[in-house]
Order: sequence, then C-alpha cells, then structure tokens
Amino acid sequence: MSKIIDLSVTQNGITFPNPFLLASAPPTAYGENIMRAFDHGWGGAVLKTLKPDFMDIKDVTPRFATLKDKNKVLGFQNFELVTKRSLADWLPEIEEIKKKYPKQGLIGSIMADIKKESWQEMAKKVQGAGCDGLELNFSCPHGMPERGIGAAIGQDPELVEQITSWVKEVSEVPVWVKITPNIATPIPQAEAALRAGADGLAAINTVQCLMGVDVENFNPLPAVEGQTTYGGYSGRAVKPIGLRIVSQLGKMGVKSISGIGGVSDWKDAVEYMLLGSTTVQVCTEVMLRGYAIVDTMIDQLTDYLGRKEMSAMDLVGKALPSITSHESLSRIHQIVRHEPEQCVSCGRCVIACSDSGYSALRMLNREILLETEKCDGCSLCTHVCPTGSMSMQGACARL
Ligand SMILES: Cc1cc2nc3c(=O)[nH]c(=O)nc-3n(C[C@H](O)[C@H](O)[C@H](O)COP(=O)(O)O)c2cc1C
Repeated sequence: MSKIIDLSVTQNGITFPNPFLLASAPPTAYGENIMRAFDHGWGGAVLKTLKPDFMDIKDVTPRFATLKDKNKVLGFQNFELVTKRSLADWLPEIEEIKKKYPKQGLIGSIMADIKKESWQEMAKKVQGAGCDGLELNFSCPHGMPERGIGAAIGQDPELVEQITSWVKEVSEVPVWVKITPNIATPIPQAEAALRAGADGLAAINTVQCLMGVDVENFNPLPAVEGQTTYGGYSGRAVKPIGLRIVSQLGKMGVKSISGIGGVSDWKDAVEYMLLGSTTVQVCTEVMLRGYAIVDTMIDQLTDYLGRKEMSAMDLVGKALPSITSHESLSRIHQIVRHEPEQCVSCGRCVIACSDSGYSALRMLNREILLETEKCDGCSLCTHVCPTGSMSMQGACARL
C-alpha cells in the first residue's frame, strides 16, 4: 500500500495544505485572482500590501525591467508601489476568499505611516476581515523609504521594534515581519522584531538595484520619460541572497520563517525549507509563467518526499547544522577529475586554468592533460565546462 505523502505545513498554528504561497505582489492584487490561484492549488497567499486610505499611491509607467540570458529572465526589477486599492475594495474580498477557501492560508500584508493609530487600525481591519495572519512590510526598497517607511523601517531596529509592538498590542492572529535584504546583516532587525513579540519572519523583500543604461540614448533603465530611480531586484538571481538570509535567521534559532526570493520550482522551495523556512513564497516566477506552475511544483514535491520518505514538515531546517564559519571548514585537499568520454575538447577548462588558475590543465591532440601536483582544487574548470566532464574528486593527500 502506498504511503500518503503529507505536503501540509503548519506555521504559527496556521495550517497550509502545501508550503507554496503567493508572495505579496501583482499576483495577489485582486481577490478574484487569489481565488483562481487557490483553484490551481496554491497553499496560501500574502495580499499585495494594503495601506490606509489617506496614503496616496500613484504608480509610474513603465516600472519593470529584466536581465535576460537569451530569452530566459534571470533577474527582474520593479519600482511598483503598494496597492492602489482602498480598504473598501479589499475587506469584502478578504471575507469572500476566506469563506470560499477556508483551507488555504491568507496573510494580510500591511504598511502605514509611522503612527501607532495607523498601524493598529490597519491590523484590526485586516484581521477583522478574516486574514489568518499579518505580514508587516518593513522592506519595500523604493518609493516608500522616501516617505520614511518600507525599507527605511527595516533598516532601523528601533522602528522595527516600536511598530511591531504596536501591532502586537492589538493583533489576534500571528504577525510576521518581512525583512529587508538591503542592509549588511538581517540580524539586528530580526532580533528587534522578535523582542517586540513578532511570531515569525518573512525573508526576503527585493534587493535594491539599477537594471542598466541604454548606451545609445544614455537613459538609465527602466526609463520613465528618460529618467529612472532605484528599484527592487527579484527572481532567480536573488535566490542565493534569500537563502543566505533565511539560513542566518534559521541559525539564530527562529522557528517560524517564510522563505522568499527567486523560487521558480519545487527544488528551490525545498532548499528554502532545508534552511529553516516552513512556508515559501513566490512572486516573479508567477508573474512570468502564471499560477499554473504550482501544479508541477506540487507533483514534484510529492515525488521527492515519497522518495525521501519524509513529510514536508520534516524538511524544515535539516541543512542548517551544515552551515558553519569559514574557519571551521575542512582543509582536506581535493583536486579535479577529468572524464574523457564526456569531453568535447572545447578548451574552456584550459583557458580558465591558465588565465585564472594554476596552469594545471593542457590540451594535447584534443586531449585534456591534468598535472595533479599543480591543481589547487579551486573548481573553476568544473564551472566553465559545458558537458560536466570536469568534477571534483575526494580527499587527496597533498595539503
Ligand atoms: C512587481 C512587484 C511588486 C511587489 N510588491 C510588493 C508589495 O506590495 N509588498 C511586499 O511586501 N512585497 C512586494 N514585492 C516583493 C515580493 O513579495 C518578493 O518579496 C520579492 O519579489 C522576491 O520574491 P521573488 O524572487 O519570488 O519575486 C513585489 C515584487 C514585485 C516584483
């Protein structure tokens, strides 16, 4: 009899049918769309950030740019602001979503000016409409910091602590603080949030960036009538930054983390979970490919968990003990191994090793020759090889 595979996860008492959540962004900008996403199988959603009605939000056009390799988007820039929609638009939609989809988790992302009444009012209204949790947006890196909010809050631990405690005074549902990566270390803001009683952390928001410059007309990109401003970077390119920050929070002992940044398939999500995330949020990949990507993510996570004989919750934090300091890493020396059957004699490994390495590789009659005593074990050749014919082999006596 085949075992039932448990994809469900529970974070701060909120149970999600699977760990895949839509992040706060255009895919969660309308209730109707969120319900369509739930029909596809998403385990939950974080609403596009809501704000008090007196805060005027005017987006600019265009507001997106991409970094591509051929047709594949590697990185995505935006300087979109929070929702332009009013609370009168939103609150009935939240009620409707929760009524129709009681099993999916709905988290209300909120932002306000730095006033106790504003944050408390937002928290009370959004939880009152039925959200299962709140996410405090202390991390939007564009537009909002100019008004002293967004990432300007995340960059100031005192403000993080102050505002989180205001919200905690009135909250009846779990509160997650969304962390900004635009700071040397996430630890002071995370500690401040936890001191104030935050139930969990969500990381990361976008990384401040400037996508490029049109070299013909000198317009920085994305150009809004010839001018630009700094935006937020997301998508595949930011995953290593997200993983680093999530693992730092995991190493601090934080038990409730929602991992975000560059998740494009089930495997990215599993990586975030192994580093301490219970849920994982997705934005850019859905913007590029639509809600339906979750179908494959669910199927492939199910296969993986079946193969590993694990539940989704078993994954959380499993890789954390293997993150250590540079000083503690093994000094056992490894060298490269060359598999001639897979080699196409392109010579890229030889160029890399002679121009940026240790001249341990040569090509003779289209054959790669390795001088083991010269190989420093850096692994550069394995990364430039297009066929996988270079790999690292185990311990070698030379130190
Ligand atoms: C166009 C766009 C709009 C976004 N709007 C919000 C927002 O309103 N509130 C928020 O907390 N994060 C917002 N984000 C950030 C995402 O929620 C997410 O943290 C970030 O994009 C990284 O995840 P990804 O690599 O899966 O896109 C936005 C991102 C994009 C691309």
